[in-house]
Amino acid sequence: MNEEKEKLDITIKSNTRDLFAFTKLVPNRKKRFERASSDPITKDPMNELAVRLHPNRQYLVINEIKDETKSAKTFKLTPDPDSNTKELAYFRAGQYLSLKVQVNGVMITRPYSISSSPSDALKGFYEITIRKEEQGFLTEYIWNNWRKGTKVVSSGPEGYFYFEPLRDLKQIVGIAGGSGITPFRSMAKAIIDDTLNAKLTLLYGSSDEEDIIFYHEFKEMEKNYPSKIKIVHVLSCDVVSLEGCEQGFISKDIIEKYCNPPSSTFFVCGPQIMYEFVEAELKKLNLPTKLIRREAFGEVKDILTFPDFPKEVAEKTFKMKVQIGNSCKEVPAIATESVLVALERAHINPPSKCRSGECGFCRSLLIDGKVYINPVSDWRKGGDKRFNYFHPCASYPITDLEIIVPRDF
Ligand code: FES
Repeated sequence: MNEEKEKLDITIKSNTRDLFAFTKLVPNRKKRFERASSDPITKDPMNELAVRLHPNRQYLVINEIKDETKSAKTFKLTPDPDSNTKELAYFRAGQYLSLKVQVNGVMITRPYSISSSPSDALKGFYEITIRKEEQGFLTEYIWNNWRKGTKVVSSGPEGYFYFEPLRDLKQIVGIAGGSGITPFRSMAKAIIDDTLNAKLTLLYGSSDEEDIIFYHEFKEMEKNYPSKIKIVHVLSCDVVSLEGCEQGFISKDIIEKYCNPPSSTFFVCGPQIMYEFVEAELKKLNLPTKLIRREAFGEVKDILTFPDFPKEVAEKTFKMKVQIGNSCKEVPAIATESVLVALERAHINPPSKCRSGECGFCRSLLIDGKVYINPVSDWRKGGDKRFNYFHPCASYPITDLEIIVPRDF
């Protein structure tokens, strides 16, 4: 009753009375302190919410596997009933999960975009769609081992590749290549179920008709929601039989044919080679940088393709002294593999999520030696550069090294 009265005291009455009401704020707060129990608070609802939204780990189980193309599968993941993951963390369409997988005794992490809608997480499932890579260390393992019932450990939802209404224009132009379509499926579903108030025009590049992921699903979405979803397939193969497709690459001309660039926010997700091409094309449109967002794409496939990487060390393996917590270990580090891969091979697992220099979880200190930092993944802050912090996922040893890495938690 008293509290009600205190609330009434500060409702808007008139300028003068309101000013006087403010004078009561502090005394009223004091009274509340005096009345409060001296027992310590055992529950903190804000922290509980933060943990639910950003769990350190989620324990999941594969509930269903669907073949999308001959080289792409969608895995439906639900909470593992034998774990303490009782519900899935909500996310923003475009975010990813970092999966922790043990392959041949080595624990590795890989980021995969969530391809289902955020509202599906509330219904109890995520979907991730994975494309098998040629000589892909992890995807080979997944294809051979993942079955319905396989248990999977993931991070909470991560990443910054999402629509932000305060920053982005409501017309989204998605530029996707290969499995880069997965975050756009999540966005399209979120637009349709009104979780996301935006429109999507998707320019989707594939090398062959057979490689198109979600072909029928997107056609259906486009047919049912023509004012919200549009998809244009751009195929780089010589023979195209599908109707309404563009042939070639996602060029400036194609972008201008289907979109109004100054009134759109561009989201780009695909393989490294596509970024290079598309970025050059987008540059020709002279768009402000804030209108272009790109997804981090994991570790680069071949560091030797970077012109300033010192080729003379390409064949070398260096010694790397690693300090983690109270222990110290010396491990080999191959010049063409990231420092993070060298650590994982040696069963040293610092925290890692994006594997592209963006999330900062693997941030480590370089005590001695030199690393080559891949320029497209160098997201270090100025202070970190100055004080020799680096991201092992985006750095390559070019001399013997001594480093301090964080412990996983
Ligand atoms: S794993 Fe994200 S910065 Fe290294």
